[in-house]
Amino acid sequence: MIELDNLSKTYAKSQSKAVDALTLTVPDGVIFGFLGPNGAGKTTTIKLTCGALQPDSGNVKIDGISMTKAPLAAKRRIGLVNDNPEIFGRLKALEYINFVADIYRVPTALRKERIDSLATTFQIADVLTNPIASLSRGMKQKVAIIASLVYDPQNWILDEPMVGLDPEASFQMKEIMRQRTAEGKCVFFSTHVMEVAEKICDELAIINKGKILFVGTLEALRDLRASEGAQDATSQSLEELFLELVDETDGVGR
Ligand SMILES: Nc1ncnc2c1ncn2[C@@H]1O[C@H](COP(=O)(O)OP(=O)(O)OP(=O)(O)O)[C@@H](O)[C@H]1O
Ligand SMILES: [Mg+2]
Repeated sequence: MIELDNLSKTYAKSQSKAVDALTLTVPDGVIFGFLGPNGAGKTTTIKLTCGALQPDSGNVKIDGISMTKAPLAAKRRIGLVNDNPEIFGRLKALEYINFVADIYRVPTALRKERIDSLATTFQIADVLTNPIASLSRGMKQKVAIIASLVYDPQNWILDEPMVGLDPEASFQMKEIMRQRTAEGKCVFFSTHVMEVAEKICDELAIINKGKILFVGTLEALRDLRASEGAQDATSQSLEELFLELVDETDGVGR
């Protein structure tokens, strides 16, 4: 479970808050989508969640563990897939995955089983001994995904994970998300792809200008829009609901 409490972050030399008093709970057992337009604050929120950035104020808890007070224990419970798969280009893919498995002290037999299974699922078993720099973007993304799962973290956090993946790999990602939440784990991912979010997310949060606009199910979003007088809210796609909601807040300053 991820608990973000009143998080704020302003980058140096910036006039506005990238993340503004953001409070959000991502429970275990649901696929949770994080949606927002470019520059909304999704990546910043994810970096704060993983302890890669320090908030100016507010708190992050991972499975009840404070990121500030016990960062190692909190980070141990997170598997992260960044929005940019540029990782250790000189290492071979397998060396990188083993490096991550070493850090998290995954026993040899168990890591081999997991790597074999994931490499087969993502169809990259034949390139695991190639240098990462020589792989395509999608292949690098797959290596990053495998590395994030090799220690079977309770909380799987992904920033735009579907970008660059082929349809088969996207399908496998959704299967893994579904499987992990069925096991009671936490899956939190950002996306621009509304069709993906509409199909697979059990719950959504929508962010714009660093502020959360909505948290809940797609049905709850439809009900909310209908109660606010939006025409045809019950039959609108997530894309339409999203665009309207973001449009309405775009005139509002940070
Ligand atoms: N390293 C940085 N230094 C200064 N400002 C930054 C930095 N990273 C992001 N920002 C600013 O913070 C705000 C939020 O950016 P962020 O990358 O979190 O958005 P995002 O929702 O992930 O966008 P995208 O959909 O394009 O990935 C933007 O106004 C952006 O310009
Ligand atoms: Mg981003």
